Amino acid sequence: MNGVNTVEAAGASATSSSEPRSPEPVRIFSVAHGGAGVGRRISEADGATVGEHPETRTWLVEGALPGEIVQARRTQTEKRLIRGETIEVSMASEHRVEAPCSLFRTCGGCNWQHVAAPAQLELKRQIVAGQLRRIVDVVELGAASSEALGYRRRARLHYERDAGGAWRLGFLRARSRELVDVPRCVVLDASLQHALTRIRELAPLLPERGELVALSDGARALIGLPGVRPGPAIEQAAAQLLDDVLVGVSVRGGRQRKSIGQPRLEIDGPSAEGEPVGIQVSPFVFTQAQGAVNRALVRYVHEQAQPAGKRVLELYAGAGNFTRLLATTAKRVFAIDDHREATACLQALVERYGLPVSVRSGKSETFIGKLARSSQPRRAKYDVVVLDPPRRGLGRQPSRWLSGLQPERIVYVSCDPATLARDLEILSKNGYAVERVRVFDLMPMTSEVEVVATLVSKARGSAA
Ligand SMILES: C[S@@+](CC[C@H](N)C(=O)[O-])C[C@H]1O[C@@H](n2cnc3c(N)ncnc32)[C@H](O)[C@@H]1O
Repeated sequence: MNGVNTVEAAGASATSSSEPRSPEPVRIFSVAHGGAGVGRRISEADGATVGEHPETRTWLVEGALPGEIVQARRTQTEKRLIRGETIEVSMASEHRVEAPCSLFRTCGGCNWQHVAAPAQLELKRQIVAGQLRRIVDVVELGAASSEALGYRRRARLHYERDAGGAWRLGFLRARSRELVDVPRCVVLDASLQHALTRIRELAPLLPERGELVALSDGARALIGLPGVRPGPAIEQAAAQLLDDVLVGVSVRGGRQRKSIGQPRLEIDGPSAEGEPVGIQVSPFVFTQAQGAVNRALVRYVHEQAQPAGKRVLELYAGAGNFTRLLATTAKRVFAIDDHREATACLQALVERYGLPVSVRSGKSETFIGKLARSSQPRRAKYDVVVLDPPRRGLGRQPSRWLSGLQPERIVYVSCDPATLARDLEILSKNGYAVERVRVFDLMPMTSEVEVVATLVSKARGSAA
């Protein structure tokens, strides 16, 4: 533990109580989903004479770490919970470090810059273990990023021109719609940063506000501008910006779309013999935030799925990140995603390499719902299901449908341990045992975590 440390207060966070209160001492004992410290109010904060306090509600304190005593300012008081933010650290965790970015606590892009990089994966494991405590006893550590800064290859930013004509490009402040201009971002890789610096020159031709998506393969980058109609002015200006690093700008407004320069990049191509082929993606298509840990994730998902000679159903397949390795040993992969551009990327990959994959555009939930209700023999249609839904998870009813398909194994990749816990509970009550859970850290400096849960069918497992 370290000594007293003053933390610059985060800017405008919403306070529900009408009375401004002075900071209160809180002892932090664990970490919550979302990255805040979980603690209790204490009576003193000198690090030596701490005592119990009549306030027994749990505190959730932004910017606080397990083992710390912090002075916290209330931002919201609820019936059973008090939310707050760290104003000063009275007793610091050994894992507390100086944030590497000067915009920390102003920009909402990263919430864990105060956490030492080597400690981040273990804290994420603790978050997942807390969410899954009713389901599994052990949560394993997977791969962590070797680079805590300059690693990120995909980002979604916002831009706007204010009434005074000033143009901002960056991220939203935490729990706010206020846009923070971020001229340099320490977690973006160098090519992405280069592309974002150059794209600022397009500002006069862009709408008053909008979003921008950026993607890099580590050496070259693409920018995508949704909500921007193609036209001679923007196309000429974008063409002027292209160089060896920024190799493509794609605009799309209404039904019109145009790529100036390259529309897609190949990412995660093989760096050694035996590694899976790369995927071809545009900046509008989902891709994992970094390459190195994603390679480990793809290998682990393949290992857990055990797809050799099996029929695999892959839900939320995207552009084929997991498909490309599953298809090397599976009898056939049936891959579904509702993003037409992602499935077009996947179809192109399948044709290029002759992979045994059937690609379908549509809602995963609708597909398994129809299958679960159909009269055809459902059992053993798919031996393995791999799914990687967005934050909202698969959902209660679709989880029941999934168990009704009776695959031998389910490999559930999740970016939200709370929705994962909800779905695993349903699957556990409907014939599946959670065999293994492992966490991966694709996004250092944030509390975002990737979790892989492996489930086996109790019925088919015992019959085998
Ligand atoms: C977390 S991403 C995973 C993509 C891919 N597995 C990867 O690793 O790159 C979630 C994917 O689900 C897709 N998606 C979102 N809602 C969907 C739905 N209801 N049905 C099918 N796909 C959906 C998105 O287009 C996105 O490609």
